[in-house]
Amino acid sequence: MASSSLLPSVMLLLCLAASASAQLSPTFYATSCPKALDTIKAAVTAAVKKENRMGASLLRLHFHDCFVQGCDASVLLSGNEQNALPNVGSLRGFEVIDSIKAQVEALCKQTVSCADILTLAARDSVVALGGPSWTVPLGRRDSLTANEALANSDLPPPFFDLVNLTKSFGDKGFSLTEMVALSGAHTIGQAQCLNFRDRLYNETTSIDAAFAASLKPNCPRPTGAPGDGNLAALDVSTPYYFDNKYYVNLQAKKGLLHSDQVLFNGGGADNIVSNFASSAAAFSGAFASAMVKMGNLGPLTGSQGQVRLSCSKVN
Ligand code: HEM
Ligand SMILES: *[C@@H]1O[C@H](CO)[C@@H](O)[C@H](O)[C@H]1NC(C)=O
Ligand SMILES: *[C@@H]1O[C@H](CO)[C@@H](O)[C@H](O)[C@H]1NC(C)=O
Repeated sequence: MASSSLLPSVMLLLCLAASASAQLSPTFYATSCPKALDTIKAAVTAAVKKENRMGASLLRLHFHDCFVQGCDASVLLSGNEQNALPNVGSLRGFEVIDSIKAQVEALCKQTVSCADILTLAARDSVVALGGPSWTVPLGRRDSLTANEALANSDLPPPFFDLVNLTKSFGDKGFSLTEMVALSGAHTIGQAQCLNFRDRLYNETTSIDAAFAASLKPNCPRPTGAPGDGNLAALDVSTPYYFDNKYYVNLQAKKGLLHSDQVLFNGGGADNIVSNFASSAAAFSGAFASAMVKMGNLGPLTGSQGQVRLSCSKVN
């Protein structure tokens, strides 16, 4: 009698325990490493102050981590995903993450995962460049593997059209509005000529003529070195301020990448772009919640994976 009436509550407790271990929590390090979050924020703020582009680079690192087998710091492992087409010669900020990890290790040995450091660094980068803040759920663990082929298939390339971007983000559980909001990350940072050359010389109707002309001298038509790596700002109006000007640029046909301009070209995302262009608050809110959602992609929790001692290699 007693045991049979206890059974349901015992099972409920077991279920709660199981789901709790698979859940992330903002207070995950509150007792195990209480100074971790402030330490990471101070280090990110200093890195962005030293080089403002670093904020963009850290934000992109987090995106490229989460879209490939979840937010598990797989992108930080030397080789592997780092050699994938969207990443090689392009991703940056690894040494900043390594330096933050060393500081956090000195505070609390093998406690704070690289995946959590990268997630917090992405948020702190946006804040350092004047963007919105949000609470970061924590407790991710680090992968034992990375997957170059998955990085090539799951990270969207800049020549994608709206239908392809919608599918790519839809496959990860994001709505069209969330995809457009996340693309607003291109309000900061830079891209290389090889990623926008076609847009300058091929896309006459969807690009502002003066904007294209201003970019051509630094992005000559012949492909190959030295022009390929030349940089231009993703947001031509406020390149190092995290605001909603990216969307205002799109309305003026001043998106840098093809994949930027397809969000406003007479298709199904135009009204979303217009909303974010006219309301900084609408963009900030949508971006913050989509970032939390992205940070929740396939995390390793509980006893899965490990907490790496050094972010670039498994223990
Ligand atoms: C919508 C699909 C997306 C495509 C096709 C795309 C593609 C690209 C490309 C081609 C670059 C330039 C890389 C280079 O030339 O080296 C870039 C830069 C960047 N991307 Fe994206 N991206 C997308 C979405 C996102 C998302 C969701 C985020 C973050 C939430 C993001 C953050 C960034 C940032 C911050 C940079 C600048 C990095 C720097 O200056 O170091 N992107 N992206
Ligand atoms: C985009 O998706 C369409 C429809 O599925 C497909 O035909 C096209 O090849 C895709 N484009 C790219 C660049 O993958
Ligand atoms: C650029 O032009 C070439 C040659 O006409 C074409 O094959 C290619 O698809 C074009 N690229 C874009 C992005 O329009």
